Amino acid sequence: DQVDATNGKRVLLAKPRGYCAGVDRAVVTVEKALETYGPPVYVRKEIVHNRHVVDSLRERGAIFVDEADEVPEGALVVFSAHGVSPAVHEQASERNLRTIDATCPLVTKVHQEAKRFAREDYDILLIGHEGHEEVEGTAGEAPEHIQLVDGPEDVDKVSVRDPSKVIWLSQTTLSVDETMDRVDQLRERFPALQSPPSDDICYATQNRQVAVKAMAAECDLVLVVGSQNSSNSKRLVEVALQAGSKASHLIDFAKEIDEEWLTDVVTVGVTSGASVPDILVMDVLAWLAERGWAEVQEVTTANEKIAFALPRELRRDLPKTG
Ligand code: F3S
Repeated sequence: DQVDATNGKRVLLAKPRGYCAGVDRAVVTVEKALETYGPPVYVRKEIVHNRHVVDSLRERGAIFVDEADEVPEGALVVFSAHGVSPAVHEQASERNLRTIDATCPLVTKVHQEAKRFAREDYDILLIGHEGHEEVEGTAGEAPEHIQLVDGPEDVDKVSVRDPSKVIWLSQTTLSVDETMDRVDQLRERFPALQSPPSDDICYATQNRQVAVKAMAAECDLVLVVGSQNSSNSKRLVEVALQAGSKASHLIDFAKEIDEEWLTDVVTVGVTSGASVPDILVMDVLAWLAERGWAEVQEVTTANEKIAFALPRELRRDLPKTG
């Protein structure tokens, strides 16, 4: 066995990690709105669930509010990537707000499914985390048809009018495996339960979970860069542990790493949630390199090429290029 000067210390770096197409679009939307219309630009809720992103946009003139009624009459407000319910659109139009909707198109897709199956009078079981903004937005599309299923205990609580007309939908940022467990449980109660026409858990969430799974078994520790309110980032910690990493922690910044976590550690896995700019991951790599983990191997399980056009209401006002 070869033991080099660093005692085999190495970093496995997951790819894909970090920014997804929906987050990139939402962040660029606020940046372009600031450039085009000048500050202040109001943003309802955190544009994406990342502290660093929100703080830097705030410095540039974005004002984050919880609800549309905190925005002055007639001002410009951007809706976050997580989506909003029709009630929020109404609130905004009552206050004559100019709106730019940065809802991720893959969240909008779930809203369309909810509307369609509500129109067809299905009972919709929405698998997702209670209180998460995305779930509030989706459920708001058809509150009288949608029931939320969060933990396993909710499976017995839901009640449907016609067990032959039930469909499940989900939040876009869940754990794939856990969601399938929940669906199996629901199907035991409702054998005719239908599945969404296409995956609700988005490509970015799935790809980041596949990548962390591919390396977790070799890791003594997996560091996931992401914020505490980021659903997909938290899922990466869970997936890392389930897939065999001895430990895993969620951190916003390199400075939050506790040196004690590195005791007896040889291989450190690093990944990041879909709302995390890669500069924060580079900071973590630099922090690790200073402590002997300078060798970095990227573990690639997919190459993502997807990108979304900016919201139409913003594109209209942008200077023409090309
Ligand atoms: Fe959209 Fe998935 Fe990102 S729903 S915002 S592409 S995590």
